[in-house]
Amino acid sequence: MTDPLYELVQLKNGTWSVRSRVLGETFHPVIGPVAEAEALYVRQLQLPQRMARHSGEFVIWDIGLGAAANICTVLQASATGTNPVRIVSFDCTSAPLRFALEHPRLLEFIAPYQQAAQTLLDQGQVEFTNGNHLVSWNYFEADFPSLVRLPTAQTWPKPHAILFDAFSPARNPEMWTLPLFERLHGLLDPSRDCLMATYSRSTLLRVTLLLAGFFVGTGHATGDKEETTIAANSLRLISEPLDPKWLSKVRRSSSAEPMIQPLYRQQPLSSDNWERLERHAQFRGSHGITR
Ligand SMILES: C[S@@+](CC[C@H](N)C(=O)[O-])C[C@H]1O[C@@H](n2cnc3c(N)ncnc32)[C@H](O)[C@@H]1O
Repeated sequence: MTDPLYELVQLKNGTWSVRSRVLGETFHPVIGPVAEAEALYVRQLQLPQRMARHSGEFVIWDIGLGAAANICTVLQASATGTNPVRIVSFDCTSAPLRFALEHPRLLEFIAPYQQAAQTLLDQGQVEFTNGNHLVSWNYFEADFPSLVRLPTAQTWPKPHAILFDAFSPARNPEMWTLPLFERLHGLLDPSRDCLMATYSRSTLLRVTLLLAGFFVGTGHATGDKEETTIAANSLRLISEPLDPKWLSKVRRSSSAEPMIQPLYRQQPLSSDNWERLERHAQFRGSHGITR
């Protein structure tokens, strides 16, 4: 029977991905689920290396669990590590993961984790051994912007890494607002290094992350995107921080003002926000801002 919400799509390079029929958006649309997750999250966030260096539980927040391609790829890449890993996944629907579980042959990333993913869906949590290490995986099914505002969010294990993978800001604006990223930043433990990656390189997103309190840098290329975005709670974690040259681009941009409400629109940066941006610790002490 045809699924009314999701379909399988074959990409130009022959790999298969999942497409939301409702939003008309394909998950990992260019190079495919595994290659994108490896470039954007595994390599960029240096997950296997950081997990190996870490002592104790390494915590990953997986925002936008979807079909679980990102997190399964991270698990595959880190299977030789010995430290325990805790994953906290979030999504407002389990339908894409249920769909992926029906297609393990074409969506290969799910194949080794079918049993774990099924238990996760049935019980909201699962523990299993991945290669050499123990994984504790929790799933919260809820509207993320509402969930994250609740006081109980303070009790969630603090992350070392965040995979942020919502649909595009135009189609999924509630996941890209300034209040959401301010709250996310506020939930981090300042004494625990945390790196977050996401596929967008838009000026609007980068300004939003900076104003929310993150330090922000240029992220690796993936597929047809020359750049993505990486953010952290400490500047020393960012290898290519956005610089004054980028700031002058913001000044000229017609789409830099963060969204406060979940309503997509494009506006130049307001003068208040420009002043806040210039005062950000990332640019303090920088010279040569061109206006
Ligand atoms: C691009 S897909 C994620 C793909 C996924 N990371 C993977 O590897 O398969 C975006 C996901 O964001 C979720 N999402 C969109 N709006 C949301 C919201 N308001 N709250 C929670 N999740 C949301 C969607 O349900 C969808 O599964």
